[in-house]
Amino acid sequence: KKDVYVLGIETSCDETAAAVVKNGREVMSNIVASQIESHKRFGGVVPEVASRHHVEQITLVIEEAMNQANLSFSELDAIAVTQGPGLVGSLLIGVNAAKALAFAHQLPLVGVHHIAGHIYANRLVTEMKFPLLSLVVSGGHTELVYMKEHGVFEVIGETRDDAAGEAYDKVARALRLPYPGGPHIDRLAHEGKVTVDLPRAWLEEDSYDFSFSGLKSAVINALHNAEQRGETIEAKDMAASFQASVIDVLVTKTVKAVQKYRVCQVLLAGGVAANRGLRAELERKMAELEGIELVIPPLSLCTDNAAMIAAAGTVLFEKGKRADMTLNADPSLEL
Ligand code: KG4
Ligand code: ZN
Repeated sequence: KKDVYVLGIETSCDETAAAVVKNGREVMSNIVASQIESHKRFGGVVPEVASRHHVEQITLVIEEAMNQANLSFSELDAIAVTQGPGLVGSLLIGVNAAKALAFAHQLPLVGVHHIAGHIYANRLVTEMKFPLLSLVVSGGHTELVYMKEHGVFEVIGETRDDAAGEAYDKVARALRLPYPGGPHIDRLAHEGKVTVDLPRAWLEEDSYDFSFSGLKSAVINALHNAEQRGETIEAKDMAASFQASVIDVLVTKTVKAVQKYRVCQVLLAGGVAANRGLRAELERKMAELEGIELVIPPLSLCTDNAAMIAAAGTVLFEKGKRADMTLNADPSLEL
């Protein structure tokens, strides 16, 4: 069987990324130009700034991905691009670059959902075994996705307000930590103790949905009240208390879903998958359940990248999915 080479392009948020993946499994190149430094002083991603960076970087990043893979465009089988969800101005840069290249080189074009990409980052690590469950936790998403087969996604739970990463970043801001705050809270949490009693949003009895905005408000209120009383809560203890609440809900709901849906594999995905506390607790809980394989990709594949888009794109391409020149960015695309 002939090898399949797919170029992936990802520009949904603040990383300009391009990658080449062979047979949906093997990373030939994985280039990511991060804009974090430009957004840091604003304490979050500024959409206008992001779009401008993407325009400046996209051609260079794609060229570098092709060079490192040592391929010419005529050797590619398809181009896969993140179609949504994300910032519309950012998405448009990647979608238009992909369309231009597909047209110029007469290559098939495949639109990819960003979350499908995060899930397929796992296929760059190991073979996917169905049925499986993926916990997708990033700056924009908190989702439990059930998969019976390749390329078919069923969202069984999602956040009703803030995403997990978003809650991390907002709590970090309240603790005056730099953006993005997730890694800082993670680090502090390991130094601190759980001293603040914070809520856990379990929602309805059989719901796999999440909610983190109440937790975020509880943190902000506790800090404010302590300040009014002339007391201080140490940042490390607040970080530990907050992280304990987030992990408790994420892991408990994942375990419940694993049992109900009788899956044989659990895939962790998204930037928050970098969290040491979350990894450790999931590992511990999954080890208690017999016959469940837990997969956690390396950090570079957990955060936004284009190899994951190429990996998901390869599967969709092989299933016959094609986009034409009418492909458009969709900021609220459904999985
Ligand atoms: O997947 P990602 O790179 O971008 C999105 O698609 O959103 O995720 C970024 C998010 C940010 O909110 C960041 O604070 C969070 O992932 N994050 C972490 C950690 N590392 C990154 N959150 C908690 N613990 C970490 N170690
Ligand atoms: Zn992402």
